[in-house]
Amino acid sequence: MKVLLAGATGAIGRPLLSALVEAGHEVIAVIRDPANHELVAALGGVPVVADVMDCLALVRAVDGLSADAVMHQATALRRVRRRLRADDPTLALRGKGTENLLAAARAVGARRFVTQSLITGYGYRDHGARTLTEDDVFGEPAGNVGDLVVASCLATERQVFGADGIEGVALRYGMFYGPHAFSDLFADLMRRRLPLLPRGRTGVTCFIHVEDAAAAAVRAMERGQAGRAYNIVDDAPMDWREFATLVAEAHRTPPPMSLPRWTLRLMVPYLGCLMLDTSMRISHATATRELGWAPRYPHVRAGLGLPAATG
Ligand SMILES: NC(=O)c1ccc[n+]([C@@H]2O[C@H](COP(=O)([O-])OP(=O)(O)OC[C@H]3O[C@@H](n4cnc5c(N)ncnc54)[C@H](OP(=O)(O)O)[C@@H]3O)[C@@H](O)[C@H]2O)c1
Repeated sequence: MKVLLAGATGAIGRPLLSALVEAGHEVIAVIRDPANHELVAALGGVPVVADVMDCLALVRAVDGLSADAVMHQATALRRVRRRLRADDPTLALRGKGTENLLAAARAVGARRFVTQSLITGYGYRDHGARTLTEDDVFGEPAGNVGDLVVASCLATERQVFGADGIEGVALRYGMFYGPHAFSDLFADLMRRRLPLLPRGRTGVTCFIHVEDAAAAAVRAMERGQAGRAYNIVDDAPMDWREFATLVAEAHRTPPPMSLPRWTLRLMVPYLGCLMLDTSMRISHATATRELGWAPRYPHVRAGLGLPAATG
C-alpha cells in the first residue's frame, strides 16, 4: 500500500516508518522541517513538507500524489506545558489536525485512515482491578483536567469513524517506552537526580514498546476493521515505581527519587501527577484476535533488554 504518514520523525513515527517499509509499503512522510529530509529518506520514506495544522498548505503539498492510507501519529508532547489548557497543541492535532489529515486523505484518494488514540481516553481515574476492553466506556469525563485529553482522543476517533468514504481505525496506545519515549525521558531525569515519583503508591498502567506500537499500526492499516478501536498494550501492567526502577536498571542510572506528593505537584506538570495517580489494566485481546498482533515485548523488562525476573 501507499501510505501518507504524519509524525514520521517522532518516537513512534521512526520505527513505524521503518516497519511500513519493511512490510513492503511505500511511505510519503509529512514533515514540517526540511532538515528532516535526510532522516526520512534514510528510513526509506519520501518526504513532503507541510504543517498538519495548516490545511491549505497540507492539501497543496500532497497535490498530485496518491495514497491508499493515511496515518496520523503527530503529537506535540515533547513540549508539554505545566498546565494543560484547551489550546494545547496536541489537543489541536487530535481535533483540527485530524480534520486536516482527513482533507489530505481525500486529496490523495486514500480510503484507510489510522489514527493515534490513547488508553487514557478511558479516563484519568482509578479503574480498579478489572481489565478494561474496547467495550468499556471511552471518552467519558472524570471531572479533572485529564478530561481535555479524554475529549481529544474521542474527537480524533469520532472524526475518522464518521468520515464519509473513509475506513477509520483507531489505536488506543498504552504508555510508550523505548528510544525517544518515556523510558528515555525517565532515564534522563534519574541521571540528573531529579525526582519523578511521589512517595507511597502510584497508579498501575499499561505500557507498550514503540516497536510493538509500530507493528500494531502496520497491522491495523492492513487488516483493521473500519470503525474499530484497538487497545495496544503489553501483557504486564505495572505501577510507575516498578517502571522507573526497571528503566534505572536498564539505563544504569541512579534509582528513581521520590518526593512528598504535594512537593512533586509543584515540579511535575499537572497532567503528569494525574497520570501517576491513574490506575488502569487493559486487554489487547481484540487486537490479537482481529489484527493477528501480539507484543513482541510482553513485559517492560523484555523491551528494555533486561533478563526475565526470577522467582
Ligand atoms: N501513548 C503514549 O505513551 C504516548 C503517545 C504519544 C506521545 N507520547 C510521549 O510523548 C513523547 C513524544 O512522542 P511522540 O512520538 O508522540 O512525539 P514526538 O517524538 O515529538 O513526535 C511527534 C511527531 O509529530 C510531528 N508533528 C507535531 N506537530 C506537527 C505538525 N503541526 N505538523 C506536522 N507534524 C507534526 C513531529 O514532527 P517534527 O519533527 O516536525 O516535530 C513528530 O514527527 C515521548 O516521550 C512519548 O513517549 C506517549
